[in-house]
Amino acid sequence: MAWRMTQLLLLALVAAARGAQPRISQARTDRLNVCMDAKHHKTKPGPEDKLHDQCSPWKKNACCSVNTSQEAHKDISYLYRFNWDHCGKMKPACKRHFIQDTCLYECSPNLGPWIQEVNQSWRKERFLNVPLCKEDWTSMAWKTTWLLFLLVGVAAVWTARPRTELLNVCMNAKHHKEKPGPEDKLHEQCSPWKKNACCSVNTSQEAHKDISYLYRFNWDHCGKMKPACKHHFIQDTCLYECSPNLGPWIQEVNQSWRKERFLNVPLCKEDCQIWWEDCRTSYTCKTNWHKGWNWTSGYNQCPVRAACHRFDFYFPTPAALCNEIWSHSYKVSNYGRGSGRCIQMWFDPAQGNPNEEVARFYAETMSGAGLHEAWPLRFGLVLMLLWLLN
Ligand SMILES: *[C@@H]1O[C@H](CO)[C@@H](O)[C@H](O)[C@H]1NC(C)=O
Ligand SMILES: *[C@@H]1O[C@H](CO)[C@@H](O)[C@H](O)[C@H]1NC(C)=O
Ligand SMILES: *[C@@H]1O[C@H](CO)[C@@H](O)[C@H](O)[C@H]1NC(C)=O
Ligand SMILES: *[C@@H]1O[C@H](CO)[C@@H](O)[C@H](O)[C@H]1NC(C)=O
Ligand SMILES: *[C@@H]1O[C@H](CO)[C@@H](O)[C@H](O)[C@H]1NC(C)=O
Repeated sequence: MAWRMTQLLLLALVAAARGAQPRISQARTDRLNVCMDAKHHKTKPGPEDKLHDQCSPWKKNACCSVNTSQEAHKDISYLYRFNWDHCGKMKPACKRHFIQDTCLYECSPNLGPWIQEVNQSWRKERFLNVPLCKEDWTSMAWKTTWLLFLLVGVAAVWTARPRTELLNVCMNAKHHKEKPGPEDKLHEQCSPWKKNACCSVNTSQEAHKDISYLYRFNWDHCGKMKPACKHHFIQDTCLYECSPNLGPWIQEVNQSWRKERFLNVPLCKEDCQIWWEDCRTSYTCKTNWHKGWNWTSGYNQCPVRAACHRFDFYFPTPAALCNEIWSHSYKVSNYGRGSGRCIQMWFDPAQGNPNEEVARFYAETMSGAGLHEAWPLRFGLVLMLLWLLN
């Protein structure tokens, strides 16, 4: 009876935590039936009749070779030289799950939606946030595991609030200050951030220049960029350099010029729309402005093979512009300005900085809130914990 209650409570907890995570699903076919670019994955999935033991469920269509499936069952195998027994012998019932985990990782052709690029010596891609079924996750069910879960669960429920390390922070990058703070004299388009900014006055001035000290970036790489268009790029630079509200979208990277980047910042759809409209008639030669330039003259020029065309040739839609130009730093939101659910590139500081609320909202969903109203659950969890401790 009590055992059953534990199960139910735990499942409720896990379900609540999962339910709180926002996910937008799209059937992008390039994410279906694919293998990750990693150490042992095949380039494409295909049948493998002889897959070994626990990996055999994937034999109709797999990203692993027979050899990989065999190695997945070994200790300190050729795959990663990983020693499961680093604290004495791992129990067989436990090891089975690690083998199964390895089979899923190596063999599954169905994890495309969760592939992310990484810059690691041993793999170019990884999986991130694969939504593992709750029963698979909880079936390692002996009492100590339950207890651990419950402790973590109680802690999570009790402390459900924004992860403060995601709020009011500056990224570790080329010109960002270490911590945000007031900057009374921020220049022109960057001035909305003056109450609290990650940029220095110098950075805010440089953000308004052509081929500035910041990145030596040449906006006019296909003839003069129209002023109305450049206006948006300056604002984009101000947001990037000055905003202390982008913590939820900071990711580590291994680049020579920065240790962190932004990924998928949910830009308000109107801010993207007007950016695109004002830039449509300017010219460029590339879709991704992060890579592939010719820097021999000290600033970026179009590589020989890249022809200059109107913006709407390289960026047919607003989303193409905002998402692609800085390699997915932005992901245009379906939400609009004032919704509290998307980041505004433009705002009137007289009304405060609307992005503070947005950061709080996403930091909260990322830390498994939505459990705020879970008082009965909290109570149940504590009773269960007391019972287990007995
Ligand atoms: C798998 O391949 C590696 C490298 O080719 C080899 O060292 C290893 O012995 C093979 N494992 C099996 C089980 O055949
Ligand atoms: C990966 O890191 C190496 C070494 O730091 C660097 O040369 C390379 O440009 C990086 N690649 C990407 C895609 O960030
Ligand atoms: C970053 O890349 C360098 C050079 O490739 C490597 O030595 C270092 O370990 C990498 N760091 C991380 C965190 O991947
Ligand atoms: C900003 O600082 C850099 C390096 O200290 C300097 O070269 C540049 O002239 C400064 N820019 C402004 C506008 O003061
Ligand atoms: C890079 O630009 C220089 C001139 O600025 C040119 O001589 C060279 O051929 C260009 N290289 C490539 C790869 O486009």
